[in-house]
Amino acid sequence: MRLKILIGALMGLATISMAVGIEAQAADLLSQQCVACHAVTKPEKVSLERLWDRKGPDLYYAGSKFNKPWLVSWLQNPTTIRGGGVMYAKTVKAGADRSVDTIDPAQVPAHPKLSAADAATAADLLMVLKGDGLVTAGAFKNEPPSSMASMLFSKLRGCTSCHTAKASGAPTSGPELYTGGDRLQPDFVHAYINNPQKFDAHTWMPTLGLTDADIQKLTGYIGTLKSEKK
Ligand code: HEC
Ligand code: HEC
Repeated sequence: MRLKILIGALMGLATISMAVGIEAQAADLLSQQCVACHAVTKPEKVSLERLWDRKGPDLYYAGSKFNKPWLVSWLQNPTTIRGGGVMYAKTVKAGADRSVDTIDPAQVPAHPKLSAADAATAADLLMVLKGDGLVTAGAFKNEPPSSMASMLFSKLRGCTSCHTAKASGAPTSGPELYTGGDRLQPDFVHAYINNPQKFDAHTWMPTLGLTDADIQKLTGYIGTLKSEKK
C-alpha cells in the first residue's frame, strides 16, 4: 500500500517536472531500489523497534534536509556518513580491555551506487519529499560566524562525543558532520539540533536544551564544514 502512495506521489511530481515516459522509470527507481531500506513516506508508527530494525535512515524529509548537488554526487559515489552504521549492534564491539566499545568499520555495508542519470533522477525525486512541518524555513539567521562556535561543538556542548567535525577523526555513532556544510540545509540543522525527537521520537540524539543563540552558532559552524574547499 505504501508503494502505491509513493508511486502516486512520484507520478504527480513526474507530470510537473519530467518528460513523459521517464516518469515510470523514475518511480521504479525509488520504489524498487530504495524503499527496501529507506522510509520515503512518514512511517505510520514510530517505535524503538522500527528505529532499531530499519536498514537505512529515513528519507521522507530528504527535500528539507539535503543540498541537491550533494545528493547527486553522493549517490554516484557514496561514502560512509555514520561510521557506526545505522544498526550499531552489528558494528560495535567491546574493546579488548572491555572498558571501551569500538566500532568495526568492516561491518558497515557499502551503499548501492547509481549512474549519473539515475542519481540526478533520484535527487529530483528526493528533493520533493519535504516532511511537512519538520523544518522551518528561515530559522537559521545566518549571523556572522562566532569564534566560540567550534568550542561549543567540541567542548562545551559535547557534540564530538557522537559526531566528527574532521575527516581524520575516529568513526562515531552519529552522522559525520565534516561534510555537513555540503550535505545539509542550515534550516534542517537548526531544526534537528533544536529537537531531534521531532524527527523521530526514539532517536538517540538527546534534546540538549540549548539556547537559540547557541543553536544559531552551531548551525553556522556546521555550515562551514565542507569536504573540499572550492
Ligand atoms: C541495502 C540497503 C539500502 C538500499 C537498497 C539503499 N540505501 Fe540509501 N542508505 C542505506 C544506509 C545503511 C545508509 C546510511 C549510510 C551511512 O550513514 O553511512 C543510507 C544512506 C542514504 C542517504 C543519506 C541519508 C542520510 O540521512 O544520511 C541517501 C540520500 C540515500 N541513502 C539514498 C538512497 C537511494 C536514492 C536509494 C535507491 C537508489 C538507496 N539509498 C538505496 C541503505 C540503503
Ligand atoms: C549521544 C550522542 C549525540 C550527541 C551528544 C549529539 N548528537 Fe547529533 N546526532 C546523534 C545521532 C545518533 C544522530 C542521527 C540520528 C539518526 O540518524 O536518526 C544525530 C544527528 C544530528 C544531526 C543531523 C545530521 C544528519 O546527517 O542527519 C545534526 C545536525 C546533529 N546531530 C548535530 C549535533 C550537535 C550540534 C550536537 C551538540 C550540540 C549533537 N548533535 C550532539 C547523536 C548525538
